[in-house]
Amino acid sequence: MAELILGQVLSYHGDPFVLGPDAVQINTSGGVVMLGGEIVATGNADTLRAQYPQATVTDYGRALISPGFVDAHVHYPQTAIIASWGKRLIDWLNTYTFPEEIRFADPAYAAEIANRYFDLTLSHGTTTVCSYATIHPESVDAFFTAAQTRGLRAYAGKTCMDRNAPAGLQDTAKSAYDDSKRLLQKWHGQDRLSYVITPRFSPTSTPDQLAALGALWSENQSCLMQTHLSEQLDEIAWVKTLYPTARDYLDTYESHGLLGMGGLYGHAIHLEPREIDRLTEMGASLIHCPTSNSFIGSGLFDMQGTIARGLRVGLATDTGGGSSFSMLRTMAAAYEVGQLRGVSLHPAQLWWLATMGSARALHANTKIGNIAKGMEADLVVIDLGSTPGIEQATRRAQTIWQSVFPTIMMGDDRAIKAVYIAGTRA
Ligand code: GUN
Ligand code: ZN
Repeated sequence: MAELILGQVLSYHGDPFVLGPDAVQINTSGGVVMLGGEIVATGNADTLRAQYPQATVTDYGRALISPGFVDAHVHYPQTAIIASWGKRLIDWLNTYTFPEEIRFADPAYAAEIANRYFDLTLSHGTTTVCSYATIHPESVDAFFTAAQTRGLRAYAGKTCMDRNAPAGLQDTAKSAYDDSKRLLQKWHGQDRLSYVITPRFSPTSTPDQLAALGALWSENQSCLMQTHLSEQLDEIAWVKTLYPTARDYLDTYESHGLLGMGGLYGHAIHLEPREIDRLTEMGASLIHCPTSNSFIGSGLFDMQGTIARGLRVGLATDTGGGSSFSMLRTMAAAYEVGQLRGVSLHPAQLWWLATMGSARALHANTKIGNIAKGMEADLVVIDLGSTPGIEQATRRAQTIWQSVFPTIMMGDDRAIKAVYIAGTRA
């Protein structure tokens, strides 16, 4: 039976970075009809009520009905070490991350954290994530099993590392290829799950391992590939010593078959002109992780510059280098980074990044990221007055965006009224 939900419905006609804020429409008395996991109609509440008299109706009043949030770069195994104090990238990895990731050799622990992670992301209105697992194949199984049980569209891959990591956290070039291939065959295309080929980053892979994963990618071109690029200056200097003949950081990937249209490059803060040119030519996606970039002390991503070049940009929490599970908090951080660079991102642009922008970065924008007929019915319903502080800030609002912006800047999981996964309320 069809389900009709009513509220202020947000949808996109285009890219607000190209067309301006008017590319985002909010129908203040709108509705969405869902059936069979999909959106079958959108429009005015009264019209839809008349067209679907049999539908079950839920009226969310003044709440905002949005596409579910899409978090384009996370590490679900770092759930338990989020908000760990006092380190920068390399010593943060060695002190907090690697000891925690070693624990994922235990399938029961991996399952516990995967379930905890999805409970947290769903309570924050995030309906799709693209995650790194650990080197353990069991950690990939745990992630996809938990996602499949919840009916989610989800992306992940086995993180590959064959040097500069603890003994319990290394594979080899061959086992990385073999395990990734087996997991890809097992999970890629099952329900709404997609396997992502995942070399962690150049410092923890030998050239042989990067080449093996480049070969796997060329043999499986429907898969995305994710990695980290130019996050911190110390890291870039280290990459130079490990790959002395590479032209730059990106070249360590490019020369091993790991630069392409389906490539997702996390952070990408300190890019050189050649790197920007090549990423643009290849149509790659950059993933902006603003809370992480502040928390680990990495730097200020150049949103305006990369978007002006036509690069696809997604937005992400980077849990647990990022300091929040919330895409609302992540939008706020992106706004703050923009301010520090002299650019005030419009709330319509921030919202687009957290939904359609990330969906487009994952090449999933014909399925998720928008509210339109034929899209998968992954939705979040947002209370625009979820705390007294937010509620009083909206009282002076004269436009819909002025009433949304306080929730962007101050909202958290208390703003999430409801989440729909493939048309079913979670
Ligand atoms: N670079 C390599 N691994 C990681 C990671 O787990 N988190 C972040 N933020 N950067 C990385
Ligand atoms: Zn990361």
